[in-house]
Amino acid sequence: MSVDAASVPLPSDKEFRLFQQLIHARLGIFLPDQKKALLSNRLWKRLQACEVKDFAEYYRYIQSPQGGMELNTALELITTNETYFFREQKHFDFLRDDILPGLKSKGQRLFRVWSAAASTGEEPYSIAMVLADRCPVSWELLSSDVNAKVIEKARLGIYPELRIRYIPQNYLHRFCRKGIGPQAGNIRVNQELRQAVDFFTLNLHEDFPDMGKFDLIFLRNVLIYFENDNKVKILERIAKCLAPDGLLFVGHSESLHGLTPYFAPIRPAIYRLSAR
Ligand SMILES: C[S@@+](CC[C@H](N)C(=O)[O-])C[C@H]1O[C@@H](n2cnc3c(N)ncnc32)[C@H](O)[C@@H]1O
Repeated sequence: MSVDAASVPLPSDKEFRLFQQLIHARLGIFLPDQKKALLSNRLWKRLQACEVKDFAEYYRYIQSPQGGMELNTALELITTNETYFFREQKHFDFLRDDILPGLKSKGQRLFRVWSAAASTGEEPYSIAMVLADRCPVSWELLSSDVNAKVIEKARLGIYPELRIRYIPQNYLHRFCRKGIGPQAGNIRVNQELRQAVDFFTLNLHEDFPDMGKFDLIFLRNVLIYFENDNKVKILERIAKCLAPDGLLFVGHSESLHGLTPYFAPIRPAIYRLSAR
């Protein structure tokens, strides 16, 4: 273990390899060598809390039968959960203006959406607001993440007011409640919307349970963390979950180019399932 400029002890090369392999095996995320400081920043407090002397001892602990809970905590700390309401606004405009209005005339009775890396819930609640406002047919919204802690937060639906600036005013009035007393400074997504979203944990890196077919899958700002081999495997599983003509939304900095024959681009960061 060595100490970097900001005095956060860094893992040795050997220790880093152990975590690199573990994180890759469990999450499908490959931490490149230059991410030593990130690993340390995220886990150092846990080493102290567990009273272990270095990363090697922490590694042995989380791999031991008693360390199962701590392993989950470590993996949760590694995932990057950055998100916000109505992130990449064009996707929500497309949903509202181009997808939803045509559903009834197509004879569709139920519209099914999955937010597959939902983080703390801002993405699925943004989708839910648009669906509750504009979807002309019944809808279902499933929402998952590998990190059980963020899913817990998503279920609660409580957010600091500072983080809600992109929620349109009319949606804010209709779907959010202002906190009072100890919750002053927070808003809470209303009960109707919270109950409309089905939250659960799911690791994209493992086989998916049978969830039926979706018309729309949001898989945004998560593929970026995986190597190409894993991206391809995930995209194959995602393709199987899409209805014919179903759409996949990825993050605007992500591209499926050269990865899979299953999807054809129709807009920036929007793909249609193509014949397989
Ligand atoms: C940067 S956030 C993106 C949140 C949201 N989709 C957005 O675009 O704002 C990435 C999320 O992917 C989740 N994630 C990372 N690895 C995952 C995996 N193997 N399976 C499922 N979710 C994963 C993380 O826990 C995190 O919440």
